[in-house]
Amino acid sequence: MTKILMVCLGNICRSPLAEGILKSKLDADFFTVDSAGTSAYHIGNKPDARSIAVAKLNGIDISSQRARQFSKQDFKDFDVIYAMDNSNYNNIVALAANEDDKAKVKLILNTISPNQNLDVPDPYYGGDKGFDNVYHLLDNACSAIIETL
Ligand code: 4NP
Repeated sequence: MTKILMVCLGNICRSPLAEGILKSKLDADFFTVDSAGTSAYHIGNKPDARSIAVAKLNGIDISSQRARQFSKQDFKDFDVIYAMDNSNYNNIVALAANEDDKAKVKLILNTISPNQNLDVPDPYYGGDKGFDNVYHLLDNACSAIIETL
């Protein structure tokens, strides 16, 4: 079983989409996919309505997800941790206990734009177009991820 964790700031916009999209491309018998936020802002909340809507438009139901906060235990529970942006990456790595933990953390867009360290833009304060853009970035990244598995 390969275990993959998607992480953003709130765990309500980007990482729930990344979780839903990657799950839709993988066999649940062989892969675990989860998501978390570095902040505690939205613990227990459903994904943002705009993320639920763009996922639904693309045939994916993320409405039963609930936000949780990333914790040190996640380094033990997951094989690969994908950060949505550089700020998330730095916050996750700051909790790493050792180099093995650190090595599990990757920037998700480096899967499609190697070594460029690009951010998935935070769509929270923008309009629906931002969510559409995030969806397509993450769909491409998740297609690249499954090629590495
Ligand atoms: P996410 O987006 O990190 O993609 O879930 C955000 C959600 C909420 C906030 C910031 C970003 N917030 O500041 O509450």
